[in-house]
Formats: sequence, C-alpha cells, structure tokens
Amino acid sequence: MRVFFTYLNYHFIFVISFFFVTPSTASDTLTATQILTTNQTLLSQNRSFVLGFFRDSNTNYYLGIWYNNISPQTIVWTANRDNPIDNSSGYLKIGDNGSFVLLNSSGNPAWSSNQTNSKNPVLHLLDTGNLVLKDSSDKTNNNYLWQSFDYPTDTLLPGMKVGWNLDTGTEKHLTSWKVEGEDPSSGDYTLKIDYHGLPEGFLRRNQTITYRTGPWNGERFSGIPGMKDDTNDLKYNFTYDEHGVWFSFSVTDPSLLSRIILSSDSDGQYQRYMWIQGRWNKFSYAPKDQCDFYGVCGSYGVCDNNASPVCSCIQGFRPKNQEAWNLRDGSDGCVRNTGLNCSTDKFLRLEHMKLPDTTNVFVNKSMTLDECGSLCKRNCSCTAYANIDIRNGGSGCVMWLGQLFDMNVHRTDGQDLYVRLAAADIGSTSSNKNHRAVLAIGITVCALVLVLGLVAVCYLRKKRQQSSRATISGFVHRSHDSLMNEVVSSRGYLGDERNMDDIELPLFDCDTLTMATNNFSQDNKLGEGGFGSVYMGRLIEGQKIAVKRLSKYSGQGIEEFKNEVKLIVKLQHRNLVRLLGCCIENDEKMLVYEYMENRGLDSILFDKSESRVLLDWERRFNIIYGIARGLLYLHQDSRFRIIHRDLKISNILLDSEMIPKISDFGMARIFDKDQTQAKTLRVVGTYGYMSPEYAMDGNFSVKSDVFSFGVMVLEIITGKKNREFYSDNDELNLLGNVWRHWHEGTALTLLDPSIGNSYTEAEVVRCIHIGLLCVQEHAEDRPTMSSVILMLSSETPSLPNPKTPGFSIKKNHPKTESSSSSVNQVTVTMLDAR
Ligand SMILES: *[C@@H]1O[C@H](CO)[C@@H](O)[C@H](O)[C@H]1NC(C)=O
Ligand SMILES: *[C@@H]1O[C@H](CO)[C@@H](O)[C@H](O)[C@H]1NC(C)=O
Ligand SMILES: *[C@@H]1O[C@H](CO)[C@@H](O)[C@H](O)[C@H]1NC(C)=O
Ligand SMILES: *[C@@H]1O[C@H](CO)[C@@H](O)[C@H](O)[C@H]1NC(C)=O
Ligand SMILES: *[C@@H]1O[C@H](CO)[C@@H](O)[C@H](O)[C@H]1NC(C)=O
Ligand SMILES: *[C@@H]1O[C@H](CO)[C@@H](O)[C@H](O)[C@H]1NC(C)=O
Ligand SMILES: *[C@@H]1O[C@H](CO)[C@@H](O)[C@H](O)[C@H]1NC(C)=O
Ligand SMILES: *[C@@H]1O[C@H](CO)[C@@H](O)[C@H](O)[C@H]1NC(C)=O
Ligand SMILES: *[C@@H]1O[C@H](CO)[C@@H](O)[C@H](O)[C@H]1NC(C)=O
Ligand SMILES: *[C@@H]1O[C@H](CO)[C@@H](O)[C@H](O)[C@H]1NC(C)=O
Ligand SMILES: *[C@@H]1O[C@H](CO)[C@@H](O)[C@H](O)[C@H]1NC(C)=O
Repeated sequence: MRVFFTYLNYHFIFVISFFFVTPSTASDTLTATQILTTNQTLLSQNRSFVLGFFRDSNTNYYLGIWYNNISPQTIVWTANRDNPIDNSSGYLKIGDNGSFVLLNSSGNPAWSSNQTNSKNPVLHLLDTGNLVLKDSSDKTNNNYLWQSFDYPTDTLLPGMKVGWNLDTGTEKHLTSWKVEGEDPSSGDYTLKIDYHGLPEGFLRRNQTITYRTGPWNGERFSGIPGMKDDTNDLKYNFTYDEHGVWFSFSVTDPSLLSRIILSSDSDGQYQRYMWIQGRWNKFSYAPKDQCDFYGVCGSYGVCDNNASPVCSCIQGFRPKNQEAWNLRDGSDGCVRNTGLNCSTDKFLRLEHMKLPDTTNVFVNKSMTLDECGSLCKRNCSCTAYANIDIRNGGSGCVMWLGQLFDMNVHRTDGQDLYVRLAAADIGSTSSNKNHRAVLAIGITVCALVLVLGLVAVCYLRKKRQQSSRATISGFVHRSHDSLMNEVVSSRGYLGDERNMDDIELPLFDCDTLTMATNNFSQDNKLGEGGFGSVYMGRLIEGQKIAVKRLSKYSGQGIEEFKNEVKLIVKLQHRNLVRLLGCCIENDEKMLVYEYMENRGLDSILFDKSESRVLLDWERRFNIIYGIARGLLYLHQDSRFRIIHRDLKISNILLDSEMIPKISDFGMARIFDKDQTQAKTLRVVGTYGYMSPEYAMDGNFSVKSDVFSFGVMVLEIITGKKNREFYSDNDELNLLGNVWRHWHEGTALTLLDPSIGNSYTEAEVVRCIHIGLLCVQEHAEDRPTMSSVILMLSSETPSLPNPKTPGFSIKKNHPKTESSSSSVNQVTVTMLDAR
C-alpha cells in the first residue's frame, strides 16, 4: 500500500510535521505574485486534497498531491518524481511564460510545466485532486491550460483517464514508484493500454510483459474477475473508437474515496483501494495467481489455477516440448495434432475463458456471433473467434488471425471462445452439422487427464530409476548434511526471508477484529489450540471470518510472523484454507481466515451421533481426492515446496459444500525446489500420523506427508482413529488391522457401517489399497502425491502391492494428541481456523 512513512521510520513523521506548517489561511489558489515554499500547502476547496512538498527517506523534496486528513499520507500525484529538490528546500512559482516552475534554493528549475500563452495564469487545486492551470480571465469551467490529470504517475483517481489519443498519437499510462511507499521516482513497472486489435492493458517490468488484463468485455477486463464485484460503488468507463482508447472510473457516492494504483509491490500489481473505516481496503487486484503471469502455458495452452498441473493443451493439441512440460514448465505451449484443412475444419467451444492476446485480431463491433463464426470459417487464417461484449447475450466479433496466446480459465466467469480444429480432432459428438463444434471443456480435461496420465507414468518410471542413484550419493554427505540441515532449519521455518520482501502483508485493524468477534466473546469461540483460540467473526460487509488470536507466549517474533503470513497468503488453492490477513499491534497477533461452515472433518467423521451418515461414500471419496489435490499443490505446484508436517483429520476443514480444505500451517516448512528432505531434532506433529523415519529420526520430506495422508485415507474409510483403534487383537492399531484384513482379503469389513450401501466395492478397495501404499514403512516405497492423484482418478487395476506399513503396532505413547506443546518450541503458529 502507499504508506509514505510507515511506523518503521516514524522519526520522519516528526520531521514532516515540523516542516509542514500549513499557512493559517489555507487556499486552493496560487497566483502569479505568490510562491509556495516547502513548508506551505494548497488545500482544495472542500478540503479533500492537499498540494505541497513531501520528502523521501533521503530527505529530498517532491511537489505532490495527497489526500487531506488521511493517515498514513497517501500521495496520488508527484510533479518532479525523477528530479527531486535536495534537502535545502525550494519553492513553486508561476513563471513569466505562463508555465509554473519548481525551483531549488539557488533558483534553478527542477521541473516545469510547458509554456502557455496565458497572460494571467493561476493555479487551482480542485476537489477532485486535479491541479489545474487556468487563465484567471477565463470563466468557463473546464478550459485548462494544463492539468495534472493529464500526467498520471502511479495513481488513477476518479475522473482521470489513461489510454490513447489516436488523433495526436499521445498516450497516458501508469508508472509505479521505484520503491512503494519510499521512493516516488519512476519505477520498473508500467501499465499501458495497447490499442492494436482489441484494446487491452499490459503490465510490464521494464520492457517485459508480465501480465495482460485481457480485453474489455463490456463490464470489466476479462482477466480481472474481481473487478466485477467492484461495480456497486463505482462505474468503469472503457471506450474505444478510431479517435482514442480511454479507461477511467467514477464513484457513485462521491464521499467514497477510491483509487487505482500500479504498485511496485508484489512484482507489479494493479490494485484498487477504497477508504473504509479508517484504512485503505484492497478490492480488485491483478495479477493474482500463477496463471496470471503472461504466457505461462504458451500458445494454445490453457492455465487453470485450480488444476494440477496448471497448464493443459486445448483438445486437439499436444505439448510442444514434452520434456519441459513434464517438469511443469508449460511456456513452450502446444501444437496441433492434426494440421488444418480450411474447408473441413470445425470449431470447439471453450467456456469460462480469459480471451487470448488480442494484438493480432480482426474486430467488428456490430457483428453477431453467428456472422462472426461464418466469417471465421471462410477465412482460412482465422484460428478462433468470440464475442467482444458479454452483456445482453453477447455482441460484437473478435477473430484471431494467428496463434492463441496466454489463455486462462476463470471458473466463476470468463467467456466462450470458439477455436478452430481439424475435423479429426473434434471428436465424434460434434459430427452433427447443426452443432458447430460444441464441446465442453470438461471433455477436454478428461482427455487431457488421460494424456497427462500416460506422461506422468513415464515420468515416474524415469524418476524411480534416477532416485536409486540419488540416494546413494545422498548418503555420502549424510553426516555433514544433517548438521547443516539443523542449522538451516532453525531459520528455515516458514519465516524464511526468501523473496518475501516484495510481498504485501494484508493487514487488518485489530480493533476491527475485536468488533467483528464481539470482543472475543465466549459465544463466538470456535475452539482452542496449542497457540491460542479461534473465534467466529463477521465483518461490517457481512463476510464471515475465523479469527485466530495467538497467545502472547507463542514465542514468535514479529518479523517471523509477518514473513510467515506473507507466505501463506500466497498459497491459493480450493483445497487449502485461505488466509485473508492478520493484525499486529503491540504484543497482539491475530490471523484471519475464511470461515468454514462445516468446521473440522473430525467433528463429523468421529462423531458418535448420527451426523456421520452425512458422509456417504461419494462425499468421502471427494474429500480424499480434495485433500490429495491440496497436498499436491503444497508439494509441487506452489512457488515453494512446502511440507505440512501435521496433517491429520482435525486439520481438514469442510466448507458449506463439504469441500475439504487443508489448514494449520503452523509446523510447515519450506523447501527449496531441489531440496528433498531435511532433519530436525525437534519432532513436532501428532502421533498416529507421523511416519517412522520422522518420529524416530526426525527426517521429514514430502513422503512423510504422504504417510500422514495414507493414515487419513484409512481413517476416512473406516471412520476410526488410528491411535484409538480397538479390536480383539489389541496389539494392532488401525494400520495394522487394515494390513491384516488386506492380507486375509477381508478389508471391506472395516468399512464404516454408517456409509450404508452407497459405495462401489472396487472404488473402496482401491482407496484402501492407495492408503496402504501411502503408509508403507519405507519412505522410498511410498508414492508421491502426483501418482496418488493418478491412482485415485484412473481405473487402472495395476497398482503395486503394498509392503508392510510403518507403525502397525500400537505403542504405549502418552495420550497427548500433539507432542508440540514444548514451551520453548519455536514452531510457528498458523493454527486451524475452525
Ligand atoms: C517556511 O520556511 C521559510 C524558509 O525555509 C521560513 O523563512 C518561514 O518562516 C517558514 N514559514 C513557516 C510558516 O514556517
Ligand atoms: C541535507 O543533506 C546533507 C547531505 O545529505 C546533510 O549533510 C544535511 O544535514 C542535510 N540538511 C538538512 C536540513 O536535512
Ligand atoms: C518558462 O519560464 C521558466 C522560468 O520562468 C523557465 O525555466 C522555462 O524554461 C521557460 N519555458 C520556456 C519554454 O521558455
Ligand atoms: C539547484 O539545481 C542546479 C541544477 O540542477 C544545481 O546545479 C544546484 O546545485 C542546485 N542548487 C542547490 C542548492 O541544490
Ligand atoms: C511538455 O510538452 C512536451 C511535448 O508536448 C511533453 O512531452 C511533456 O510531457 C510536457 N511536459 C509537461 C510537464 O507538461
Ligand atoms: C529495469 O531497468 C532498470 C534500468 O535499466 C534496471 O536497473 C533494473 O534492474 C531493471 N529491472 C529489472 C527487474 O530487470
Ligand atoms: C466515458 O469516457 C469517454 C471518453 O473519455 C467520455 O466521452 C464519456 O462521457 C464517458 N462516459 C461516462 C458515462 O462517463
Ligand atoms: C469534495 O469535492 C469532490 C469533488 O467535487 C467530491 O467528490 C467530494 O465528495 C467532496 N468532499 C467533501 C468532503 O465534501
Ligand atoms: C482437405 O479436405 C478436402 C475434403 O475432404 C480434401 O479433398 C483435400 O485433399 C484436403 N486437403 C488437404 C491439404 O488435406
Ligand atoms: C461490420 O459488420 C457489419 C455487419 O456485418 C457490416 O455492415 C459492417 O460493414 C462491418 N464493418 C466493418 C468495418 O467491417
Ligand atoms: C482474413 O481476414 C483478415 C482480416 O480481415 C484479412 O486481413 C485476411 O486477408 C483474410 N484472409 C483470407 C485468406 O481471407
């Protein structure tokens, strides 16, 4: 956020308040006979904006505009951003030639507006935040000789425009600050509208495109889905014709303060803020996730953030570079299976798409979709077509004349895209002549799963061959490594600093959370964990949240806590609980999670009453599958490799649709992408879910998570806890019992009776089989999560035979649920949000 002076350099605030003594008679006007010194300001008529000088951390002066009475100071415009006046002060005056100039203390200009022919120029600061130069004799309202709205810096205010004047060939765009909140000089990021083809915005770091907004679809940029929900409080205006392309917005209620900025935080981000209850709240923003990065899946590849891997090829296409694709680098894109033959080609409809790059397209705003389709069919270089405007059933025609680049799926919205395919690739269902190539993306995905399945099997086989070699060389360095790992791990908790500085910390006001939870009343309490209590809360906007209030003795420093929050916030997957933000005040630390209607899976699965009948087989299978997907994301698909270390049924939360979400990253560790295991002297986690190598030697890896996952699978199927399994054979725990029954061919007898008859035997047996594979004693025998997903989703009968499970004998461990309560434990404290 644009906080010019944070509490970190609060001493500057003192400097500022010392220098900014506002003249007692605040004025909105500067005439030719006046000057504005560094300690004076102009105040707009209704006191909404201030023009004055602010200083950066090198105490240089900049002329800027900021909101009046908003703390922290929020600067919306800077005149001399790349040419500051040094700390010996300077002043602003209206020059003889009708411009206005900023001079340093020795009278040299640091910045000047352009010459005008005005005889009596005056400078006004308007209530909109626009600084305008007028001729004092000119009484018309909007006749400005110069206005700051024509020279945007990084902020778009209501009424301000960015885009192109195509008649003059001039352009306006946003350029980020060098360092957000610290250095206002022009940064590396720009957000520019490209008018070629169908206009859309491009975010660049230096010259490299990092993100594309997608074309305007009548309501919003098709690549910023969150923008749709913005429209209650404001109106977006995007217009384009042969004279120009303009984007602007206005607020419906003028008392609402709203601004759009291009932030240099988060690797360059479009952000819209609104001032609510004393703080800037971030509404829509982009890029948001992995799929937003320009061209992640190349040409003809489609990125889906909820899929794993995120890239897939459109039906009828295959990866261009299979090797890179297997390593989850999709940027080379896809190529056609069958070449096109103009006369016989068909069209495939893809739903919920962010439209591909529109630089090389043909556009006609008045054509209907049908006309568009037949034009595209006739023109052999047309590769795809779509509506331009999605309102009122859709209108307009956009036709792609080359490769389809940078496509995303946005499950909740997005629009239809019709892609040209060779008739052979379209599949049999579309042979009906009246249905021009209509196939849902779901079918595409099924086909892809098959293809990817084959790919993954080959990949795994190769990997397995390699891994034996890797183990041997790993042993050579073993004694040295375990020492190193312990050193690394003491700062290798999630609180690691790697690349964390550029991520924004979503801060909530602690008072807001106190209010939302009714002052942490007992009625709102959802539960208690080792590190504090969880409360249900409701924000003013009505959103339900779960607030985890950490006990003051959690032993974690502010910096570690912040870094951890920044990491977890980055994790976004439908099977992970979303962390919405946190608050830090004095020694109070709180975490804000999305609220889960159905609480923890344990509260249903292990419930003695009848509520567990809610969990029929289909639900249980979906829960197993969802957990597997979430875990795969942690292990392979997020920016880091993350080992959860405390997977257990009570850490699986269910939302209103019974979709499982993994929670509690309190003991999680980040690995480097090429790191495969680590060792710790402090074994934390929960008995019954810990793998042998971890519980006994402190070795953990993705495979120790796989073990815990296997235990959960068997618990979900049997409805029994591993540790508390009681049977005639008292020596065996759940794992031991399942193993015994598996050998006797009676595994199905262990199925939770409350499932009833709703199951398919083969599916249950396969899940038990997979569970047993995951809990095998030796880590190297256990499958990775990606092969677990494959096993779960395919009907292939040829799963390997499981070997002996680890920890199949009941142990006489103390009955504590969790061993992590040791007081000087430095473990971090993301606990569950129930
Ligand atoms: C503003 O600064 C100038 C010189 O820097 C000084 O002479 C003047 O007294 C200051 N005015 C106020 C109101 O502080
Ligand atoms: C201005 O900057 C110079 C060098 O950076 C420093 O020595 C001097 O004290 C500063 N003066 C003020 C008034 O901050
Ligand atoms: C206008 O006047 C200012 C100072 O009075 C000067 O710095 C600037 O160069 C002049 N601009 C032109 C175009 O003459
Ligand atoms: C004012 O600006 C001129 C030209 O940029 C520079 O040479 C001079 O040192 C500056 N004066 C002061 C006091 O900073
Ligand atoms: C002055 O005019 C030039 C050319 O029209 C333009 O590029 C520049 O941005 C203008 N600068 C200001 C401060 O108005
Ligand atoms: C962008 O360009 C600037 C100046 O050429 C350079 O200093 C900076 O490192 C570049 N940034 C990136 C991210 O490449
Ligand atoms: C939208 O912007 C265009 C061009 O900037 C302007 O002419 C038009 O009046 C605006 N429409 C609305 C509804 O604000
Ligand atoms: C000040 O004027 C602006 C523009 O006319 C308006 O949007 C805003 O609501 C006004 N603010 C106050 C505090 O009256
Ligand atoms: C295209 O299809 C037509 C009709 O099936 C066929 O006659 C022609 O040979 C095909 N052309 C190519 C280049 O395959
Ligand atoms: C757009 O399509 C309409 C309807 O087909 C047609 O009348 C018009 O001439 C087309 N405009 C252009 C620029 O091609
Ligand atoms: C296809 O349409 C584009 C855009 O109208 C045109 O430039 C191109 O010549 C057409 N190609 C053919 C083969 O008709």
